[in-house]
Amino acid sequence: MADQVIINGAIYPLETPVIPATDLSFLRGCGAFETWRSYQGQPHALGLHLQRLWQAAALFTVQPLADEATIRQWLREAQARSGYAEVKVNAVCSPGDHSEGVFGAIHPRLVIIVRELHEPPASWYQDGVSVITHRGQRELPEHKTVNYLGGLAALQQAQQAGAHEALYQDTEGCIREGVTSNVHVLHGSRVLSPQRGCLNGITRRGLKPLAQELGLSWHDQDLHMDDLLSADEVWLSSAIREIVPVVSVDGQAIKHGKPGPWAERLRSLYRQRCESEALAEARACT
Ligand SMILES: Cc1ncc(COP(=O)(O)O)c(C=O)c1O
Repeated sequence: MADQVIINGAIYPLETPVIPATDLSFLRGCGAFETWRSYQGQPHALGLHLQRLWQAAALFTVQPLADEATIRQWLREAQARSGYAEVKVNAVCSPGDHSEGVFGAIHPRLVIIVRELHEPPASWYQDGVSVITHRGQRELPEHKTVNYLGGLAALQQAQQAGAHEALYQDTEGCIREGVTSNVHVLHGSRVLSPQRGCLNGITRRGLKPLAQELGLSWHDQDLHMDDLLSADEVWLSSAIREIVPVVSVDGQAIKHGKPGPWAERLRSLYRQRCESEALAEARACT
């Protein structure tokens, strides 16, 4: 069993030093990235993650470096070498090595790290998590770029407060997203979820039709602190955590300070769908 890294299609054990120190993602923090996981050994929503990766890479004029089928094949090979049944994958696209000027780049690079997936602790789902709010926003909130410096500071603050996540609150007072998650609230049977000033989360996109299937209505709209504090439930969503119930914000309890029933209903349906999509994909590949 061993973590692997794929660099422009070549696969190495993760500890192999294969990226030059002149890479611009290291020198200047230029890069796009994605995180996804496998279900039933199949990369989940690979097409959507690659689409978002290439949209962000276009910011530094990098065109797609490989098509989905090729990347799927690399992943299959890397996962087979890793020996892991389920994996967590981080992909980074960088403009490549520094050449001339400040940002001159040659040979763009797609680095894909394949590691064992560790399921998040059951207590996050059973007991819920606490979050804090943090004044600030990511520089390019619609894109997943490698600059998480502000997020790091926010998470350090969260950690000091014993919280799991920090929610960005912008200068208009809107709660936009978590450092590494989207945020949603439930009022009665209405789900309110920010669509502006945040990442168009792939888990969020998957949740919307499932919530509607379960009889909830979905509203893409800005959130303020009051919307959270008066909610029946607050949820975080991200590819690895799926849907996590939030039970307090800045030390103030949501509802009775315990997870409501919808977070688990949605998560369980979401997971079922991911598993069955993966099985269908596996059948299509054989
Ligand atoms: C800033 C930010 N917002 C939202 C998300 C959730 O996105 P997804 O559901 O695609 O994982 C992430 C995931 O890492 C993120 O970093």
